Amino acid sequence: MAQAQDKVLLVYSGGLDTSVCIPLMRQEYGYKEVVTVTVDVGQPQADIDQAAEKAKILGTEHYTVDAKEEFTKEYCWAAVRANGDYQGYPMSTSIARPIIAAKAAEMGKKLGVKAFAHGCTGKGNDQFRIEFGIRSQMPEAIIHAPVRERNMTRSWEIEYAKKNNVPIQQSLEKIWSIDENLWGRSIEGGRLEEPDFAPPEEIFQWTKSVEKANDKATEISVQFKDGVPVSINGKAQTPAQLVLTMNKLAGDNGVGRIDIMEDRMMGLKVRENYECPGATVFLKAHKALENLVLTRDEIRFKAIVDQEWSKLAYEGLWWDPFKTDLEAFINATQTRVHGEVLMKLYKGTCTVVGRKSHWALYSEDLASFDSTTFDQRESTGAVKNFGMQPRMFYSLLEKNRKNL
Ligand code: ARG
Repeated sequence: MAQAQDKVLLVYSGGLDTSVCIPLMRQEYGYKEVVTVTVDVGQPQADIDQAAEKAKILGTEHYTVDAKEEFTKEYCWAAVRANGDYQGYPMSTSIARPIIAAKAAEMGKKLGVKAFAHGCTGKGNDQFRIEFGIRSQMPEAIIHAPVRERNMTRSWEIEYAKKNNVPIQQSLEKIWSIDENLWGRSIEGGRLEEPDFAPPEEIFQWTKSVEKANDKATEISVQFKDGVPVSINGKAQTPAQLVLTMNKLAGDNGVGRIDIMEDRMMGLKVRENYECPGATVFLKAHKALENLVLTRDEIRFKAIVDQEWSKLAYEGLWWDPFKTDLEAFINATQTRVHGEVLMKLYKGTCTVVGRKSHWALYSEDLASFDSTTFDQRESTGAVKNFGMQPRMFYSLLEKNRKNL
């Protein structure tokens, strides 16, 4: 029997980077046993199965943790409440990392293993998110990052995999690097690294092109309670099911493709392509509802809070007390974000066409062109005194110029 200190727990996706980590942990890092854990946050079932199969071939003690509902409820919904967005990206990859790290740490505690390994490169954001996530749950954790520590390249990894009988799908020609979960699909690599190269149709799997999208618009309604979706078209589903339903509805209408230049934590600018159909619709609907029920000052201030929250979420600082502080404000506002939003999905667009709430700070009687409840004449004094200081400034300018 191997001792706990002879074991290392590898955060495992079944992809190339993490697969080569298995023989590396044994040959180069001196561990007798490798435990692999794959956290299911909604990546394709085939990937989950393949990870388990490879783990079996490579002889690790393997665990799959189904975290789909928890991921949606605690992470995706938190992002909806905070209008989570980083440079136009709903942070689908980013918000999955903390839960993956937390589940790995939980597994480590259960097995009494204190050493961890992950396959993140030294150029990306995931190394920060995963390591912070593990260390916030287990401060004494030892964490290995072989790809970063050995400055590994992809071609070296492919060679090493071949030499060590690690089954791989990758070849130097199979170029897309894909990360997928319920909240979105990230596609990088190959010619996408040229910012002026238009993304080829083959990179997309969840969204139809505008040309192939449904010819007829899809009208939907989303019901919200406490700032999160509870049903679509009045039909209640679990959080994860709601996201899957919306991914399909929006994706079929070509909604949710994102092509941006993104500033990584290290300062590198990278070109990123995403498909986030469900997230795009939910976020837009949520904002529309907030605009109906929150006060003008709440909306203005919340935009700042949301942006701060999003920066923390992008960086994977999920257990930063600053995030809890921000959420105290966010969650207080969300107690009134109840109601319904009507949306029209059509040829790559997602348009809000209606909203209602019993918390609406809206009175048709006051705002209507045809009512007299709001006595217009009473506005005269307010309008006359509006902009008093800037007007004073202009008269001073005039006067002082003459005096020069
Ligand atoms: N740039 C994104 C982020 O840091 C996503 C990275 C996705 N990774 C990938 N292998 N496609 O959140």
